[in-house]
Amino acid sequence: PEANKGFSYEDCKATADWLMAQTDVRPTVGIVCGSGLGGLADMLKDQVAFNYKDIPNFPQSTVHGHAGRLVFGTLRGRPCVCMQGRFHLYEGYPIQKITLPIRIFKLLGVETVMLTNAAGGLNQDFKVGDIMIIKDHLNMPGFSPSPGTFCVISLGTALVFILTKPSTCPSTSCPRRFGVRFPCMSDAYDRELQQLAMDVGQELGYGDFLKEGVYCVLGGPSFETIAECRMLHKLGADAVGMSTVHEVIIARHCGMKVFALSLITNQAVTDYDSEEKANHEEVLQTGKQRAEQLERLVSTMVTKIEHN
Ligand code: 6GU
Repeated sequence: PEANKGFSYEDCKATADWLMAQTDVRPTVGIVCGSGLGGLADMLKDQVAFNYKDIPNFPQSTVHGHAGRLVFGTLRGRPCVCMQGRFHLYEGYPIQKITLPIRIFKLLGVETVMLTNAAGGLNQDFKVGDIMIIKDHLNMPGFSPSPGTFCVISLGTALVFILTKPSTCPSTSCPRRFGVRFPCMSDAYDRELQQLAMDVGQELGYGDFLKEGVYCVLGGPSFETIAECRMLHKLGADAVGMSTVHEVIIARHCGMKVFALSLITNQAVTDYDSEEKANHEEVLQTGKQRAEQLERLVSTMVTKIEHN
């Protein structure tokens, strides 16, 4: 029963209510900015921004290149909330804590979550600076139980609520207040949003560097060995990184639409003769060069997303 302590529906609700008391913005789009890609948050107009350290229940960013602010505002007239900096498995937080902001998005009224990340390219057709529309994922850490959807009440009681309505579960720490016990992931990445990204990308003249593919998440923070890169490529991964997937699962669990992009900041090394070495500085440097185009792609998409 301790598994969801501090991360319950009530904890999320308290944080969402605290935020809504301090801003009139009621976002329908929630954005999570990856390493070096926080510029999107700076595009928001009429900003109300909170440092993570000031938000009740929030973890804090520990990674260079991640600002650590939650920014409310309008992006070309649409109400948005933006995480400028995210949390990773390798920062040592419990997995429920890493994904807590996504559930807070839900309680703020967000319907569509858009995520960006920096990733290493495994697909040999990709170049550094390519933007990959994520069409699917490989959740390597998830081959043991997955983020924050643990159930802590007995099977007998649980069945009653599965057979009735998930949201009626009386256990305050139950993740079923947010969604079903066994969330489906075969439709995790919204097809229409992927098509919209392709269309908008073509319009903006990004055709040459806009790709699509499968994103693989590992725990990090070490980069992969050559053998690991070769294995992941054989398993069907086009890019590899240390984020996003756990957030996607939590967003889908509570019924939000998901769209995600990887900026290919470096080629993962698959060759023993290569002199290249993955490093965080290269990741941030490529981010700087392509960030503006990535931001324009996301912000243009936001103007075209229809909500109820
Ligand atoms: Cl090469 N690997 C991982 N795991 N994450 C990355 C990366 C590589 N490049 C950027 N992020």
